[in-house]
Parts: sequence; C-alpha cells; structure tokens
Amino acid sequence: MKRIFLGVTGASGAAYAAAALQALTAAGCDVGLCVSRAGAHVISHELLLAGREAPKDPDGVIREFASRYAGGPGTVTILGLEDLTAPFASGSSLAPAALICPCSGSTLAAIAHGTARNLIHRCGDVMLKERRTLVLMTRETPLSLIHIENMAAVTRAGAIVMPASPGFYNIPTRVEQIVDFMVGKALDHLGVPHELLARWGEDGQMIPAASDTERGA
Ligand SMILES: Cc1cc2nc3c(=O)[nH]c(=O)nc-3n(C[C@H](O)[C@H](O)[C@H](O)COP(=O)(O)O)c2cc1C
Repeated sequence: MKRIFLGVTGASGAAYAAAALQALTAAGCDVGLCVSRAGAHVISHELLLAGREAPKDPDGVIREFASRYAGGPGTVTILGLEDLTAPFASGSSLAPAALICPCSGSTLAAIAHGTARNLIHRCGDVMLKERRTLVLMTRETPLSLIHIENMAAVTRAGAIVMPASPGFYNIPTRVEQIVDFMVGKALDHLGVPHELLARWGEDGQMIPAASDTERGA
C-alpha cells in the first residue's frame, strides 16, 4: 500500500482536497491527512456547511471531512497539525510522496523558506530534503512577486508547483469534472493510478472519464 501525505491548507478549493482524499483511498493508498486551522475553516465553509453558518470546531470538521470522503480499500489517519512525532515529520519514514491541496500562499512561503512551524510545513521540508515527490496545488490569484518567487524557490528545490488551473479542453459540463481534472494531474505526479480524467488523443478521441459514467453523466 502506498503511503501518501495529504496536507490541506486554508486556500479556497476544499473540493480539490475532498476529491484527492477520495481518489487516493480508492487507489488503495494509506493516507496521512493533516489539515491546518484555516484549512478546516475553508472545508467547513465551502463543503460541509456550504456558507450557511459559522465554521464548527476544527477537529470535528476534520473528522467529518475524513469520514465523508475517505473510502476503501485505502486507509486514512488523521494527523495533528502540531504532531511532529508523526512519521511524516522525519526523513527516516519512507513515505514516497506528499500532496498539499489546496496549498495557501502562507504554506507555500513556509516551505519555500524552510520555517517548518507545523507538520504540513515540516513534511514539505522532509520531501524536499529527501528528494522525494512534493506536489503543491496552490490557489491564489492574482499572484504577487512574493508568491512567484516562492514558487520559483520550491521548484528549484524539487517541488512540483501545480496551480489550481484546470484545462477546459475536455469540455467539462460539471464542476466535478473540473475538480477531477486537477486532482488527476496531481495523482499522475504522485504515481497513483486513477481514472479521473480523459487523456488527450488516446484512441484518437476525447472519451469521458470513468467517474462520469459512475456519477450518471
Ligand atoms: C474562505 C477563505 C478562503 C481563502 N482563500 C485563500 C486562497 O485561495 N489562497 C490563499 O493563499 N489564502 C487564502 N485564504 C487565507 C488563508 O487561509 C490564510 O492566509 C491562512 O493563514 C493560511 O494558513 P495555512 O497555510 O496554515 O492554512 C483564505 C481564507 C479563507 C477564510
């Protein structure tokens, strides 16, 4: 079973995190899930309560998020944001890859500058120092020069910066297809198999992704 760290921070786009957790566990990954306080706020606002109420307590939000979106045959372990005793905090754990999705400008900056003040930052730090796969699905627009320079810094250090910037050449008709496009690209870089997106030019035509059929599209 492939061990993957999934960090969720306080950028808009909690739907990307939900689809990533769903796809990683569906692919049989053993997911270590760590959500920042702002990440829990955004999950609560965008997904669980859909803007209807003030956010609930962060730990409850994270548990509800995990139980709603994690499925078999993989597993999910919720990791505390301050838990630097978690295996992902050390290069001695052999976790091959981490995805931070969505990745805020704040977390991007922390990884770019190696400040490692929480488990998400530290796991990013570890992936870079161990030359393992780190995918950052950033979300902010427009970008300041600070964002751009931080993206350049982490790219030079080996990270894959993947702005949440979905393509439309698959002619999506539903939000889920747009979300799946981004998550599918991230899973490609993590080396996790999936059927989230139709691949350009395969069989000479664009075909709907398997997930569309399952969802009755
Ligand atoms: C609803 C909401 C949406 C936000 N969207 C973004 C965003 O898209 N990108 C971003 O960089 N920050 C965004 N922020 C601000 C971050 O949450 C804030 O900078 C926070 O300190 C990030 O901390 P974290 O990286 O530990 O999650 C948003 C905040 C809220 C409450």
